[in-house]
Amino acid sequence: MKVKGVRGWFARTFSAPRPATVHAAQPLPAGQQSLFDEYVDALPSAQNAVNLIPGWNHALPPEAGAVTNAPIVLYADPRIEWCVEQCGGIKGRSVLELGPLEASHTFMLHKHEPASICAVEANKLSFMRCLIVKELLHLSRAQFMLGDFHKWLEQMPRRYDLIVASGVLYHMINPVRLIELMAHRSHTLYLWTHYFSDVAMPSGDARRGAFSGEVEEFPYHGLTVRLHKRSYHGAWRNKAFCGGMHDEHSWMERDQILAVLSVLGFHDIRTAHEMTDHPNGPSLSIFATRSADP
Ligand SMILES: C[S@@+](CC[C@H](N)C(=O)[O-])C[C@H]1O[C@@H](n2cnc3c(N)ncnc32)[C@H](O)[C@@H]1O
Repeated sequence: MKVKGVRGWFARTFSAPRPATVHAAQPLPAGQQSLFDEYVDALPSAQNAVNLIPGWNHALPPEAGAVTNAPIVLYADPRIEWCVEQCGGIKGRSVLELGPLEASHTFMLHKHEPASICAVEANKLSFMRCLIVKELLHLSRAQFMLGDFHKWLEQMPRRYDLIVASGVLYHMINPVRLIELMAHRSHTLYLWTHYFSDVAMPSGDARRGAFSGEVEEFPYHGLTVRLHKRSYHGAWRNKAFCGGMHDEHSWMERDQILAVLSVLGFHDIRTAHEMTDHPNGPSLSIFATRSADP
């Protein structure tokens, strides 16, 4: 039997491909990068990973095997050791960390063997730095989430044994709301924060320069909480910027932070690391616990 057309089909299917037309390299339009720029042809190293992201704020511990050239050492921060001590250890516990920045505190918490650390960071560059630190320091029990911790606290129906909110309260438009959201998710809170004080920062004190002078009175469970409005004055132009998501933010007064915690049922409130002369403004650590929801 003669099969028609087989030779033609064979030729079409198996014939050698025609040589591809070779085009001369075209110059890229001005300002456009070649994908080849995205490759690192150096010997693979921890330092290559660190060099990938600009604007590091913190130094890395020696075991990272790379340097950031940033001056601030927060991987051995006594404030976090104090927090862990107040908890009586965090081994096997669940921790939520707000605003990990570059994971220095995450690294410290991780050493105490919690069951898990969920660390929520909104800044894309900081998030990438956290992932690099996680890889270099083997933070296997830490998970970093990119996004707004307000929304996480509002919408994720999870509870934590401890919430660590270091360096975040004073970046909020409404810090009272953040305290309330944290209180919905844990009976144990650690905060390190700046606060406003007329006594510690009398008028003429350079640290008052960032405040607009506007004070919002926010009614809260019988309290009138004074929110002192502030701006970053363009500090966000720097890649190392580590503030909040909006230029407007408010500082509370020290005793009103404690009063808000109190109305939320935190009966055991301990303070430490009081610094009225901190270069950015008065600051303190607060460790607050309660036995049940209010
Ligand atoms: C001043 S740094 C504090 C870093 C670190 N926790 C510490 O104590 O040194 C504030 C961090 O919170 C992050 N952050 C601010 N607002 C946030 C938000 N709404 N959601 C998630 N991260 C936020 C910033 O990007 C930054 O990494």
